[in-house]
Amino acid sequence: MKLILDTANLNDIKYFNEFFPIVGVTTNPTILSKEGGDIVAHLKEIRKIIGDDKELHIQVTETKCDEMVAEAEAIVACFGNKKNTFVKIPATDEGIKATGYLSAKGYKVTMTAILSASQAMIAANAGAAYVAPYVSRLENICDDGVAIVAEIQAIFDACGTETEILAASFKTVRQVLGVALTGAGASTVGSEVMHKLLAHPTTDTSIDGFAADWKRAFGDVTLGELIANAGK
Ligand code: E4P
Repeated sequence: MKLILDTANLNDIKYFNEFFPIVGVTTNPTILSKEGGDIVAHLKEIRKIIGDDKELHIQVTETKCDEMVAEAEAIVACFGNKKNTFVKIPATDEGIKATGYLSAKGYKVTMTAILSASQAMIAANAGAAYVAPYVSRLENICDDGVAIVAEIQAIFDACGTETEILAASFKTVRQVLGVALTGAGASTVGSEVMHKLLAHPTTDTSIDGFAADWKRAFGDVTLGELIANAGK
């Protein structure tokens, strides 16, 4: 399952872009509101950090079809191209109409604020590249977020659609793993949960043990230094 970083924080994006195999960055108006300032320059900086090959997902702020389409075209022209810049459009009637129009013109749409499998089915039929079901928001209304992602994946498998799931709104590692087990194509994860996907206390104690045992046996020299000096 592809992993995308769900933040607009430049330090976090620099960090995970360097160390983690993320395939892109997702934003939404709430995420951007946390950064403030010149948000156009900020989004350009995100594109600069991740380069031209990674996905940048940016949400429209308009709510009517024609305005959403115009805004989507402006977003793609400003922050990348039709291949690497995904326009996030909420799952409304106007959004579905805009998605149909944009998809036919070769734009990649991430249909966002998906809270049901039926919404995902309609988004796929309209030509969305991704649908973004909100796992934690579903669980906060006593629904089963991972089960709904599984339903969507089953529908997509049955239809053979090219639309992929980009699961979103994660609060726990277990949710991310649950979604990965459904066969979903991608998940977008915030910085805190992204760190937790890799961190493990027993990994840390294991590494400390290896280092201590090595030092006890060979001192401060590294294996690389021993190899370089061998036979000298
Ligand atoms: C994707 O970018 C979604 O907008 C985002 O994951 C929603 O997450 P939240 O429910 O934590 O706000």
